[in-house]
Amino acid sequence: MADLSLNFCGVQFKNPIVIASLETTNSPEVIRECVDAGAAGMIIKTLTDIEDMARLTQNSKYAILNERNELIKGKVNKNYVFYSRSGYSSTGFREWVPYMKELRQYANDQGSHLIGSAGGKTVQSWVDICRTIEDCGLPMVELNFGCPHPAMMPGVHGGSMIGQDPEVAAEVTARVCEAVKIPVVIKLTPDQSRLLDVARAVRDAGAAAVTATNRYTGFSVDIETGKPRLGGPAGIGGVWAKPLSLRWVHRIYNELGMPITGSNGIYDHRDVVEFIMTGAPLVQVGSVLMLKGIKYLPKIISGLEEFMDSHGYPDVASMTGVASRAAVKDYGEQFRKPRMHSEVNHESCRNPKCTICIQTCFYDALAQGPGKVASLSDNCIGCEMCTQTCPFDSTSMHTTTDEDRANATFFSIPENIFELGKFEKDFDRGIKLAKVKD
Ligand SMILES: Cc1cc2nc3c(=O)[nH]c(=O)nc-3n(C[C@H](O)[C@H](O)[C@H](O)COP(=O)(O)O)c2cc1C
Repeated sequence: MADLSLNFCGVQFKNPIVIASLETTNSPEVIRECVDAGAAGMIIKTLTDIEDMARLTQNSKYAILNERNELIKGKVNKNYVFYSRSGYSSTGFREWVPYMKELRQYANDQGSHLIGSAGGKTVQSWVDICRTIEDCGLPMVELNFGCPHPAMMPGVHGGSMIGQDPEVAAEVTARVCEAVKIPVVIKLTPDQSRLLDVARAVRDAGAAAVTATNRYTGFSVDIETGKPRLGGPAGIGGVWAKPLSLRWVHRIYNELGMPITGSNGIYDHRDVVEFIMTGAPLVQVGSVLMLKGIKYLPKIISGLEEFMDSHGYPDVASMTGVASRAAVKDYGEQFRKPRMHSEVNHESCRNPKCTICIQTCFYDALAQGPGKVASLSDNCIGCEMCTQTCPFDSTSMHTTTDEDRANATFFSIPENIFELGKFEKDFDRGIKLAKVKD
């Protein structure tokens, strides 16, 4: 059986699944439930001294939307969009002290960890909150430089406002790192283009790791009423955000090489695997547990274990970053690869009933011939679209051995091919068939 345990910044986790800082970790009862369900760690909902960010949680608004941007009533599937607005923990950080001590022990007894999360009003408050967390015996603290909501709270400077400014982010990180001995993890905001600069700055200021990432800020419209959902801008996430989060995990892993915890877009164990393969060996599961309940957590953990067993990964380290290391460094690498073209297997192809490869070939390399798909391989640029779209796996890519074609760098678009009226009129039998006859 695969070994799910890992050491992250000196802390030993029994598996890679930690519960993200959010409503689920805003109460001792639910934190205990997470421990019982097998979580390797729970990050407390951000502790703060910003009154309005604590008050905002008492005024939270949530909307769960489907792919048609309609409210989901009932069971939530993988396409959900979580549109919501909430603040930080509404219980003051000093009031959390007895709970942190008790929950730390409860977690430790089951090989799990309670982790702190901070979001202060001033630099000194960041320090005070983190010291309090450390004094309660918690082994790690996350600084929330990613929350989208302070940016819309009058008079508040925090969350993503700090995470968008490398200098301020570095200053707060340095002050906290001077004040505590436990590893400090910086939760980054994806609402920016300078994320790598911020990650580099906080690393140089002493951060042990980064979390990539918190959620985006969005705006959602109910087209029936013409009104914005939840009254205006709010945080937005869901599995759709995963590739966007992974893009940053990938760049941090390859370019900065610092420890990463993954967040923003996990629904099931397959998403966990993607984060790990991109370079985040420890992942945070958040909103899906608000929607499906803590009882859903063991499914993610056992799914991960089964995946590792069936795919021959003995431990988390053997899976970490494999995809990022295999990625092209830049698109120029593509030019150095041998040229490919597609070929059609007429035995399994269902043409003329199915024409999906013809519809999706933008280069006029596949055309409707008499009763079957014709390949005009001179036109093929090897984009692989047909192999991605064919429902019967009837197209395949082959190395182009013809020297002239292999050396040709550019595909020249046949004249008139994109003149819409003509193209539409002649789609089935016209331009393409004419070329086949040629
Ligand atoms: C309702 C809600 C409240 C959240 N509150 C916090 C918070 O207090 N602190 C924090 O660091 N992140 C907070 N987050 C962000 C989550 O920790 C997590 O990074 C985000 O939801 C993306 O992960 P997911 O796709 O698994 O939900 C919150 C997210 C949601 C949906």
